[in-house]
Amino acid sequence: MPDRVTSQLDPFSPEFRADPYAAYEELRGLGKVVYLEKHDIWCVHHYDTCQQVLTDYETFSNAGGGGIKNYFKEKPWRKPSIILEVDPPEHTRTRTVLSRALSPRVLRQIRDRFEVDAARMVAEAGAKGEIEGVSELTRPYPLKVFPDSVGLADADRDNLLIYGTMVFGAFGPTVPWYEEYMETHKDVPEWIIARCQRDALAEGGIGQMIYAAADEGKITEEEAMMLVRTFLSAGVDTTVDSIGLCLRALAEHPDQYAKLREDPSLARNAFEEATRYDSSSQSIFRTTLTECEVAGQKIGANEKVMCFLGSASRDGAHFEDPDAFDITRKIKGQIGYGVGIHGCVGQMFARLEAECFFQAFAQQIESVEVTGPTELRMHPGLRGLTKLPLKLTPKAA
Ligand code: HEM
Repeated sequence: MPDRVTSQLDPFSPEFRADPYAAYEELRGLGKVVYLEKHDIWCVHHYDTCQQVLTDYETFSNAGGGGIKNYFKEKPWRKPSIILEVDPPEHTRTRTVLSRALSPRVLRQIRDRFEVDAARMVAEAGAKGEIEGVSELTRPYPLKVFPDSVGLADADRDNLLIYGTMVFGAFGPTVPWYEEYMETHKDVPEWIIARCQRDALAEGGIGQMIYAAADEGKITEEEAMMLVRTFLSAGVDTTVDSIGLCLRALAEHPDQYAKLREDPSLARNAFEEATRYDSSSQSIFRTTLTECEVAGQKIGANEKVMCFLGSASRDGAHFEDPDAFDITRKIKGQIGYGVGIHGCVGQMFARLEAECFFQAFAQQIESVEVTGPTELRMHPGLRGLTKLPLKLTPKAA
């Protein structure tokens, strides 16, 4: 009897990334824990085993790195995140600071600005009619509202996207395009660090709230800078990609879009469903601290485990009719933002940002059609679109 189930599937290959859902189905059919030989890593891909791994932080550590690189054995490309890539007790302290900076009170204050920006950008796109949806709508919107909320100056914000590619590109194995990209944009990490300094951040923004925690002695000045860096790493590409994928799902399911158009208050739930159905964050990693067992499979210490959130979200044992896109679905146990102590600290921010966007869209746009081939971007940490050609028909005035 072999001591483990193995697969030759390569989650970083173009074929896998083009249609991860077929690959997930194959993996779920193979067993609860599968060894991916190509990369010498384990993976879990059912709802229950992803939950188990993500909630047991004493066994499955984040300190080994957020991507495939094992920081217990290899050097990270940058100083690791002091929230995502640490375990308790360090994690508890930094997480508390970010949770406070993203409190419901703070979100209530920024809602109006999101609504105004979303309404204006959707109106401009609607007036054009035919648009390339990513570059003209689903990218500019988060790239405006997110840095505005943090308190970043206007200039050169595209650098945030370049930095996002550096951060999420490091998630996978080192490949030539990534090394070239890092070389071409080698000044960008410095630009980011400069933007994260106290005096570069506008009064009243979330960045300054993080520095206020340093003034209270809860974190050091250096840690405040690192937490602003985390914000800028985790908060842009994720929402750009998830909003883009949600818009495509709506355009490809006219019956679902009709429901949203008739009742724009469904916007938040539509995005919740898209986060389950087809989202930016398809997988995250953990590294084992000790020998352990998952669903009867022994895993040694110091091993990488890839958790496919995108597959857990399509697991029929948890979600009824999991491959259907249904914007009225009552989702119990969303796993698209992760779970446990590292579950996305920005999830309420992301939901708010998307809700304002899709509400404005449904209020103004009668119909939306995909008019040509869409393109996926190929960097390994996130799933997202680079092209989404759309025809928008505004509602009659
Ligand atoms: C739809 C958009 C988003 C998705 C799908 C998403 C997804 C995720 C996931 C899956 C994790 C868990 C990582 C892990 O357990 O290893 C995570 C963590 C995190 N996210 Fe998000 N995220 C989104 C938006 C945001 C935004 C807007 C922010 C900032 C405002 C943010 C900040 C963070 C941070 C700081 C962490 C680390 C939390 C911790 O380690 O305690 N995310 N996110």
